[in-house]
Amino acid sequence: MLHPSTDIIMNAQQFFAADQSEANLVKLLHAVSVMLQEGAEVLIPTADNAPEGQLLLQTQTTESGLEYMTAYSSKEAYEQGEPCNVISRPLLNYFEAILQMDGIAGIIFNPASPAPFNIQNRMIKELLADAKKNKQQNAISVWRGDITTLDCDAIVNAANSTLLGGGGVDGAIHRAAGPQLLEECKTLGGCPTGAAKITYGYNLPASYIIHTVGPIYNGKVEQRLELADCYKNSLDLARKHHLHSIAFPAISTGAYAYPVDEAARIALLTCTEWINANADYGMSVVLTCFNNGVYNAYLELVKKAQNGELD
Ligand code: APR
Repeated sequence: MLHPSTDIIMNAQQFFAADQSEANLVKLLHAVSVMLQEGAEVLIPTADNAPEGQLLLQTQTTESGLEYMTAYSSKEAYEQGEPCNVISRPLLNYFEAILQMDGIAGIIFNPASPAPFNIQNRMIKELLADAKKNKQQNAISVWRGDITTLDCDAIVNAANSTLLGGGGVDGAIHRAAGPQLLEECKTLGGCPTGAAKITYGYNLPASYIIHTVGPIYNGKVEQRLELADCYKNSLDLARKHHLHSIAFPAISTGAYAYPVDEAARIALLTCTEWINANADYGMSVVLTCFNNGVYNAYLELVKKAQNGELD
């Protein structure tokens, strides 16, 4: 049974096929690294003329005469080619085996697709090292600066319900991501308060943007849950997309006028509860601050948490 994350690489594959720019190669490699981290399996074509009782894997020789192993990232990709026998193996084990093979230059993913993509051995080595390094760590950190500069899997946008851009961090993210972001946002049909939707990060260092809409402060107690939902639903969506690092702005504390201390407490408590409930998954959360008020509010809370006084 192929792990669901193989569909990520198919999406990336289509994305890659549509636009063979460097930025998309980065996203494609991100998809491969997600497969490695999530233990995804690939379909490996076997040769028919194997000696009795032996398994011979198909290779492909490129025009430059280099020999590559091959693999399909999903059943759909496999069905694009001539029917052949395949075995299903974890990509991590296959990568490790390829590096031991004499005369093999790397791997060609989805050889029968309109845009197969090669990964050379040196990149395979880097991806394996990265996957081992990125073993599921759980962490919450407070960082002061511009969220659009962060190179994490996803940054969160404090949007409005139209998702069509605005001021504050919303404006900063749209400016930094470029016009393609608005084009994708137009396809999302808006977003209710507390919910979260995901787009690509385009020109941002982050691969994805998770858009959420905070409550416009009016003092009602139910707004605490709405604000908590922004963090929880963004984290759930990040996990659904196999992301392991996410940065949040202080949602609703700008134009939406939510009191900073209360908003920071909700943010820290909700993220802590989520990480405790998903401890096996491994998520690094960065709470970003763009002004001293928010920064000091978080530092105060972290001190309380360290003294066990955060209730
Ligand atoms: N990086 C990190 N944080 C930022 C950045 C940035 N580049 N720019 C602003 N912030 C901080 C603000 O200082 C504030 O602490 O983000 C927090 C949220 O402020 P807003 O961006 O005003 O968001 P919010 O209060 O949730 O109001 C949302 O404002 O921009 C519009 O379209 C948006 O209508 C929506 C509303």
